[in-house]
Formats: sequence, structure tokens, C-alpha cells
Amino acid sequence: MLMRAGRRRSAPLVLAATAALVAACAADPGEPTASPSGSTSTAAPPQAPLARVNPLIVDGFDVRVEENLDRQHLVYVHLPVIPNASALTDELRQRVGERVERFVTETDGSDEAPYPELQVTADLVGTSPALVGVRVHTRETADDTTFDGMTWTTWYDFGTGAVRPSQDLLAEGAETALVERVRDAATADPSIDPERLEEQLAGEREAFGSLAFTPDGRLWVEFSRAVVSTSEAPTALAVDDTDLLSPFGEAAKEAALSPTSPASGATPTDPPLITDATGAPGAVRTQEPGDVDCAEEKCLALTFDDGPVDGTGDLLDVLEERGVHATFFVVGTNARAHPDILQRMVEEGHVIGNHTLDHPQLTRLDAAGVEREIVQTNQIVADATGVTPTLLRPPYGATGPTVADVATSLGMAQVNWDVDPLDWQDRVSETVRERVLGAAHRGAIVLSHDIHETTRDAYAAIVDQLLADGYTLVTVPELLGGSPTPGQLYFNG
Ligand code: NI
Repeated sequence: MLMRAGRRRSAPLVLAATAALVAACAADPGEPTASPSGSTSTAAPPQAPLARVNPLIVDGFDVRVEENLDRQHLVYVHLPVIPNASALTDELRQRVGERVERFVTETDGSDEAPYPELQVTADLVGTSPALVGVRVHTRETADDTTFDGMTWTTWYDFGTGAVRPSQDLLAEGAETALVERVRDAATADPSIDPERLEEQLAGEREAFGSLAFTPDGRLWVEFSRAVVSTSEAPTALAVDDTDLLSPFGEAAKEAALSPTSPASGATPTDPPLITDATGAPGAVRTQEPGDVDCAEEKCLALTFDDGPVDGTGDLLDVLEERGVHATFFVVGTNARAHPDILQRMVEEGHVIGNHTLDHPQLTRLDAAGVEREIVQTNQIVADATGVTPTLLRPPYGATGPTVADVATSLGMAQVNWDVDPLDWQDRVSETVRERVLGAAHRGAIVLSHDIHETTRDAYAAIVDQLLADGYTLVTVPELLGGSPTPGQLYFNG
């Protein structure tokens, strides 16, 4: 199953899939994208647009981010957490967890980038007090091989507490009519292989694991990458849904076209998804550096990647209480869900850097793909705060000439680190504290991840000790003297 589509060149998919991850806009998930230089690309044909829900309308919405930064198996998982839907959360975690396990088992690491990589991201495709729909999309690459990118859409019924597959949107016996309509719609898509489509449709219900709606109220029927077509992206077709929907399906349609918030509630906390040893892991203005002179003072810059999440607020409390500033390299998909946290960061004097839209290895992308990852994230931050980031931290620290060129063209410096406590791997606050303090030095750029509670919990003691040791804790622009050179890669001050 993993390799069912055969060994394929990965590069075009990487870009095509990226377009699918723009959760809050109605962008076409199969939007044609530029192909990496030197490869021949089958551009994805125009596809049905997906009705997506802006997660900001969901009270108590949070994102759950997990990652394995071990270069043998890079894993980045971004899943929504919806209050009062723990069965949904469990189901998503179980299914994604199986995917992660299989990926880790079946990939052999290499010592050079690009490393094997699994990305999991999700969109909300319908929300109401009655139900919620989540579309999950995976992208798996190793060497120059693309594994099967999978997509599925799970619905959750708040009334019964039941997780419901996409097929439950269909009225009893509606599959036959749906098969006909999908067959008709497919004739307009030259990328679809009629034989493979028929193979899928022969399974009737099983074929329809990813059902949602288009903004104009048609049923959106999606197939995983390369299952029915030559396209490098998942394939979606839109069909008239007359007489196809169950009552649950009608409610889902309402939730997709006129989304409203489910009831609010406490966000549950879950144990880590990646646990075992192998799996372990507008107007533009820029922020001015403060009055710190790091030629005189013993400066050190704390940096936090991959958030924000709800818990980031606790870390901001720690920093605020001690009057120190840090640099947050945010992921666009998380930033979009937490504009209030971004605003607070800026108000309290922190610097927001760019950690891409959805955390891919940028070394896999061509210039257009790299630019899209950066620009969309800059826009999200600018929309929330009025401040456009000028610092880029490439995910996994993986960079190269193309990334440098794009960063230069966007006027952004690249910032990696020289102190890494491996906080993502050992989720022990005391260990994080010991490693940071043990490696701290004048001019250091310290990497940590605010998505981990154990990391956030470590920082009160870390900051207190650093201050006691005479450090001045500064932002990265302050550490670098206020004007880092665009395109240049920094590891310390
Ligand atoms: Ni990261």
C-alpha cells in the first residue's frame, strides 16, 4: 500500500500539496504550481475548490503540533484540537499515529538533506454546534521517492459523541448515484485514469473516504494522491448532491457553507503522539532593536520554534514577569489560529520570525515553493500584528542556495542556532534546563520549541539562572546588532 503508486519523482507533489494546506482560504487544493527546476511536471489540473472553515470562529480551538527532528525520519504533524470532541481527537491521533509509525519503520535515513519527511496537516471543512469535519492530508517523501500522500475527511457528531466517516454523509443507497456522478465529472478531468477510477468506484462506499463541500454547495469528492489520476496532488471532483445526502450530510453541508462555532469548552491535553524510541524523535514596518549593545553586554538570544499554541501564553507570562525578550519563529498554520498570541508577542517586545507556513524541508522545494511558504507566513503575521518578519528559520535548519536566494529577495536573514537542548526529544524540563545552561555562552542563539509543555515549564528556572549569571537576554536582531544581512545564515551573534 505504501508504494502502490510505484516509485515516483517527488518534487512536483511537494509543491502541489503545499497549496492544499492554506487552511483559512478557499484556495483550490489542487492548484497548479510551478515545478522544480529540472523536473518534468504534470501540473495538477484545475480542481473543485474546497469550502474551508477559518479556525478562528471555533471557540477554544487549538492546534496540536508534534514533530520528530531526528534527521533519519523527519515528522511534522499539525492537527486541530476541538473542544468537547475528544473521540475525534483520539481517532485522528490513532490514525495519524499509525501513519507515523509506518513511515519511521519504512524509511532509512541519510546523512544529507533532503531527509525522509512526513508532513501531516489538517483543514476544518465544516463546523457547527452539531458537528465538525476535519480533512487530513499527508505527504511522505524519501530520497527522490514520493510515498502515497493520503487524504481523508472525518466528521464528528457532538450530539452522539460519535466519530463518523465521510460515507455517513450519504443517504442510504446513494452510493450508486454518486458513482455515476463522479464518473461523469471525471470525464472533464484529463488527468484521471478511467481504469483506476473504475477500480476505486467498484468499491463504492470505500471509495468515498474524503467527502466535504465546495463553496457553491456541491459535494466535494476527493481521492488520495495518484489513486485515480496521474496528478501529483490529491484529486477532487465536485458533483451535484441532490438526493445524495443523509440528514447528517445535510447538517454537514450547512456547517460547511455557513460555519458557526461548536460549544466552547476546555481544550484537552493529550500525551505525545510520538513516543517510542524510534519515533522519538499591509503597511510594512519592522521592529526596531532596543538599546542593548551586545558589544558591551553579555548577550544571549532565546528562540522558540513551531508555535504558537495556547500554551505559548504561559511562556510569555514567564518572560514578561522577568522583563526579557525572545524571538519566536512561528509556523503560519499555527499563527493563523492564534493572532491574539502574535499580538501579545509584539506588544511585549518580542520579535516574530518566520518558520514557514507548514514546516516543510525547504531544500525540497523550488524557488517558487520556498517563496510561497515564506510570503504566506509573513502575510499571516503582518495581518495579525502589522509587523512583517525579517528573519527566517528554515525548518530543521535545512537550507541551501535556493533558500538563500529567496530570503535575499525578500530581505530576510536566515537564523539557525548554536545551542540545541533537544527539547523535542527528551521531554523533561530538568534536562532542558541543564542542557541550555550547560551550553549557554555569550552570543549564543538557543533553540527550543514552545509547543512542548515540558519546555515551557523549564524556562522560568532557565531565565532566572541566565540572569543570575549576568546574561542580557535579547532578541535575535539585537544580538546581531540590529541589521542582519538578508540571505545570510547566522548561528550566533
Ligand atoms: Ni521547527
